[in-house]
Amino acid sequence: MSSERIIKIFDTTLRDGEQSPGASMNMDEKLRIAHQLEKLNVDAIEAGFPIASDGDFEAVKKVAQTIKGPQIAGLCRANNMDIDRAWEALKYAKERGRIHTFIATSDIHMKYKLKMSEQQVLDIAVKAVQRAKGYTHNVEFSAEDAVRTRLPFLAKVVQAVIEAGATTVNIPDTVGYTIPSEFFEIISYLRGNVPNIDQATISVHCHNDLGLAVANSLAAIQAGAGQIECTINGIGERAGNCSLEEVVMTLRTRQDVLPYKTNVVTEHIYPTSRMLSTITGIVVQPNKAIVGANAFAHEAGIHQHGVIMEKSTYEIMTPESIGLNQSKLVLGKHSGRHAFKQRLEEMGYDLNKEDVEKAFVRFKSLADAKKEIFDEDLDAIIADEIVRM
Ligand code: KIV
Ligand code: ZN
Repeated sequence: MSSERIIKIFDTTLRDGEQSPGASMNMDEKLRIAHQLEKLNVDAIEAGFPIASDGDFEAVKKVAQTIKGPQIAGLCRANNMDIDRAWEALKYAKERGRIHTFIATSDIHMKYKLKMSEQQVLDIAVKAVQRAKGYTHNVEFSAEDAVRTRLPFLAKVVQAVIEAGATTVNIPDTVGYTIPSEFFEIISYLRGNVPNIDQATISVHCHNDLGLAVANSLAAIQAGAGQIECTINGIGERAGNCSLEEVVMTLRTRQDVLPYKTNVVTEHIYPTSRMLSTITGIVVQPNKAIVGANAFAHEAGIHQHGVIMEKSTYEIMTPESIGLNQSKLVLGKHSGRHAFKQRLEEMGYDLNKEDVEKAFVRFKSLADAKKEIFDEDLDAIIADEIVRM
């Protein structure tokens, strides 16, 4: 494997993430997240599932019209109606529009859900990719439940869809079932048994049912995968998806053993995480890696002493590297509304006028009692006044 490979980051917060209970977003909210993902410089944004509803269609269309830079993907099942509808929304992104089509390939899904034979699934997968290629060169195919698929059949499907023109082939762990060593073997098997594998990017899409989505994604890139599908704060169906911030910061922090890079501007991670939790109301657990409130807090005296003497004693990455200006004094009792609002925006909060006003009143009374107001204080005010309401 050549060193310094660039791993593409495919963000599916607006599609798979939005499928998590309580995470649905309106058009305006989706656009705000999409702009933030643009700042993060992800390689692709999956903006929705256009046939699922008119709202989803309009959101994908708007994201395709508005966002510049990342590729814009839309999900569709492997049938003509879904594919045509997806392109109808994606065409505004022109050559950056990606049709992402999928069908399940595991015995259990083929037998109970699809009621189809292997041959039928193979034919449908190939036809879907051919149909999508009629619209764009940029076609991704996903073998849903790939991890529980018989490997020779999975290899056959992957080979056939690449022959049909798929430029990205995604190997999802749809039910979050695999473990790192096994997933490494699956990706290695495909690399060894699909003759045309190098003509497409191998992508992985891991769910977190056993808490292994990040570890599995990392094992897959060590085996040769070139794209990771993930979400901000790891939101998604059931226990969620691979968390973008964890996988990206692991790659940044452990260059010594993982010689891969991403294009992500990590300094936008924290504001993006915050914006998503403010919009969805889904609170990030305090001990969540990278973006949890305690991720950079040092409570034990011995740790505090070490960090004061030399940060790297207990910190393996800096808060600044994720956009958390932890120790920066931001505001005091003389600060006005404008500075207050601006700081909240820098922190990733996007509040309406009424919420800014409510938070400002709380800020003023806190500033009277406490001379120095830090970002953590502002977080507490927002959590109390806005998110919990
Ligand atoms: O989990 C999954 O298999 C998916 C596919 C549609 C990519 O979300
Ligand atoms: Zn998924």
